[in-house]
Amino acid sequence: MMPGPASPPAHFRRGATADRHQARRTATVLELARGLCGRALDYGSGWGDLTARLAPQFHEIVGVDADAERVEFARAEYAPLQFSLCAAERTDFEDQSFDVVCSIVVLPFVPSADRYLAECRRLLRPGGTLVFMVPNPDSLRMMIRRWRGRPVHGRRWGGLTRAEVRAFLVRNGFRVEREGGFYDPAFEGVRNAGDVVLSLLSAVAHRLKLSGRWSYVGFRCQRLP
Ligand SMILES: C[S@@+](CC[C@H](N)C(=O)[O-])C[C@H]1O[C@@H](n2cnc3c(N)ncnc32)[C@H](O)[C@@H]1O
Repeated sequence: MMPGPASPPAHFRRGATADRHQARRTATVLELARGLCGRALDYGSGWGDLTARLAPQFHEIVGVDADAERVEFARAEYAPLQFSLCAAERTDFEDQSFDVVCSIVVLPFVPSADRYLAECRRLLRPGGTLVFMVPNPDSLRMMIRRWRGRPVHGRRWGGLTRAEVRAFLVRNGFRVEREGGFYDPAFEGVRNAGDVVLSLLSAVAHRLKLSGRWSYVGFRCQRLP
């Protein structure tokens, strides 16, 4: 049988056991979002599994994504949650529609980081919260890529350090309240000798609880007036 358009890995399905990366991402996001409530937007909601995990704590949560296949899947899998398709740089919601906007590993994929963050800000009420996650630019893997002159995350997002990501949030009208993150453990996805060395270094950093080298870093930020 031809695979249908909506054929993500099985672990994105409702009730499926999350894979290890997905479980760590969910736990970190739930921790960053702890205590938040009201009306939330999952901006770049992907297959919808994270939206569904966040849903119980909010009065209402909706997901939007620029990928029609993902939106279609999320709608079917996680009904009655609402998911809709958005344009690359704009959503249809009115200004200040949300108390919370979650943006989890979306920034590396958008056409303009500045315009995407401006849209997050537009959608939040003053004092509202942005829960924002990116692959950590200061992880060992990313640092080595930069050092070797390789693009870190496409042309637009490459080259920033974690401190510059923080500064980028501040410059765009957010106050960073706290940060969280996680390591994708060593030896997952090892393909060559370089990966083995990286994995060993990551394992040491993980053991020493060096948060600066997390694989992914999240920021809980308040939208300033
Ligand atoms: C790495 S996935 C993360 C999905 C989800 N947030 C998660 O953590 O599982 C990135 C998602 O961003 C979406 N995306 C990329 N560009 C976007 C844009 N301009 N506006 C909204 N979503 C976008 C992609 O379609 C994809 O679903």
